[in-house]
Amino acid sequence: MNIHILTLFPDFFKGFLESSILARAIKRGIVNIRIVNIRDFAFDKHRSCDDYTYGGGPGMVLKPEPVSRALESVKKGNERVIYTTPSGKLFNQEMAEELSRESDLIILCGRYEGVDQRIIDMYVTDEVSIGDYILSGGEIAAEVIVDSTVRVVKGVINDVSLKEESLENGLLEYPQYTRPEVFRENRVPPVLLSGNHEEIRKWRLRKSIEKTLRVRPEIIERRKREGKLPEEILEIVREIKSKGVNNETDKGN
Ligand code: ADE
Repeated sequence: MNIHILTLFPDFFKGFLESSILARAIKRGIVNIRIVNIRDFAFDKHRSCDDYTYGGGPGMVLKPEPVSRALESVKKGNERVIYTTPSGKLFNQEMAEELSRESDLIILCGRYEGVDQRIIDMYVTDEVSIGDYILSGGEIAAEVIVDSTVRVVKGVINDVSLKEESLENGLLEYPQYTRPEVFRENRVPPVLLSGNHEEIRKWRLRKSIEKTLRVRPEIIERRKREGKLPEEILEIVREIKSKGVNNETDKGN
């Protein structure tokens, strides 16, 4: 997979590209990430990339000429061009999985008040927001998108880890424990030491459901509407609801 990230702040990505899973995927040749400095495509005396907004108002807008040149320098055909902006579609795991199947991606990082609308109209296929808050630029959003997309690219991490993990079946993850068995008088839930895989699976599923109902109940409602919850889960949801959702604790016992 080839990813081009267009930004006015290339240094932002230095540590990011050297981080573990991503660095390994790059080293193994599964992904190839290129950072493109938009300023390298600004040819006026001051190499300016932003300008005042037509119609008046605060803030600056990314100029179309350097951005279009930068885009055209990397564009091969009809690959997806993602523009990071708080007014985009909300990013989620489903989107990460969808993007992970693309062979080429271009990510344009927004800055200031945004980019000239003509760039969006002419090049952008997806306007993406990572959450309902305003960052000072789209670089962190691009990192979020790249990180979550690359880790689900086939071969980057093992399939079992992916299957087990949070959000894979629409639920939040169950609690995890490691040694020691007793930590400051708090024991690991005995079922996890039982060696009974079916009991462990059921316990984990129940814990996932309890946590999801407690902190993100809308996930369960949405999955239910979409018909994506298997009967085993629905049954546990009904049972927990009939007893009342425990709002107090996330403890494993
Ligand atoms: N740029 C500024 N805020 C953002 C957000 N929440 N998501 C994506 N890009 C952004």
